[in-house]
Amino acid sequence: MFTLTGKVALVTGASSGIGRASALALAHQGAKIALAARRVDKLETLVAEIQAAGGEALAIPTDVLKQEDVQNAVAKTVATFGRLDILLNNAGIGSIEQTLDMTSDGWDKVVNTNLKAYFFVAQTAAKEMLKNKFGRIINIASILSGGVGSGMAGAINYCASKGGVVAMTEGLADEFATQGITVNAIGPGFIETEMTASVQQMPDLYKGLLARIPMKRFGKAEEIAATVVYLASDEASYTTGATFYIDGGWTAS
Ligand code: NAI
Repeated sequence: MFTLTGKVALVTGASSGIGRASALALAHQGAKIALAARRVDKLETLVAEIQAAGGEALAIPTDVLKQEDVQNAVAKTVATFGRLDILLNNAGIGSIEQTLDMTSDGWDKVVNTNLKAYFFVAQTAAKEMLKNKFGRIINIASILSGGVGSGMAGAINYCASKGGVVAMTEGLADEFATQGITVNAIGPGFIETEMTASVQQMPDLYKGLLARIPMKRFGKAEEIAATVVYLASDEASYTTGATFYIDGGWTAS
C-alpha cells in the first residue's frame, strides 16, 4: 500500500520543515520529486540526500509569489520527469502582528504567500494533471484555519490565510471531482520546524501551548509527512475536499 513508484511530485517550500520531511517521505515511497523553494543550497543538499537513498529529485529555485517562477517550476518538473501527479502546496510564512498595528503590506505578505500563491500553484499544476486525468493536490492549512475553535490573537492575517486554504480546498475538490484530481488539506497543530523555533524560545508561551495540547508535545514534521503520503497515494482515491487535523488532539479537546 501507499506505493508511489512512477509518480511525480512537486513540493513547494521543500527546503525545511514539513516540506522537507514530506519530500523525503514521498521519495521513500518511490515518487520522483521536484523541490521548489528559494534556498538553493538547502534544496541541493536534499537532492543529494534523496539520490543517495536511490531516489530521483530535482531542485528548482522558486519564489511562489512570482508567477514566472511558478510556471517555470511546473514546466521544469514536466520537462524532467514527464508528468506531474502530486502537488504539495506547503510554502508558507508565519507572522505575529497585533490587529491594531496591522498594515496593508503586512496583511498582503502573509495572505499572498499562504493563500494567493497556493491557488496559482494549484491552478498551474492542475493544467498538467488534467492531461493525464490524475492528480493529488495537498494543501497545508493549520489548526488556525477556523471552524475548529482555535483562533489565535495577534495572527489574524495568518488565520485568515489558512481559513482560505480550507475553503479553497473544498472548492477545488468539487471542481475537479470528476476529472481524476483529488484536493485535500492537512491542518497541522504546532510542529517543531523553523517556523515555530522562536515560540519554543519563549518559555511562558511554549509552556502554555504544551499545556493546551493533549499529547503535551509539539509534533514532528515526519508526523505530517505520513498523511501527505496517504493523500498522495492511489489508496486515497475516494478522499477529496477533506481537511485532516494532525495536532496531538488539540482540536478534539
Ligand atoms: P518552515 O519555515 O520550515 O517551512 C516553510 C518553507 O516555506 C520554508 O522553506 C520557506 O523558505 C518556504 N517559503 C516561504 N515563503 C516562500 C516563498 N515566497 N517562495 C518559496 N518558498 C517559500 O515551516 P513549516 O512549519 O515547515 O511550514 C510549512 C507549512 O506548514 C506552512 O504553510 C505553515 O504555515 C504550515 N504550518 C506549520 C505549522 C507549524 O507549527 N510548524 C502549523 C500549521 C501549519
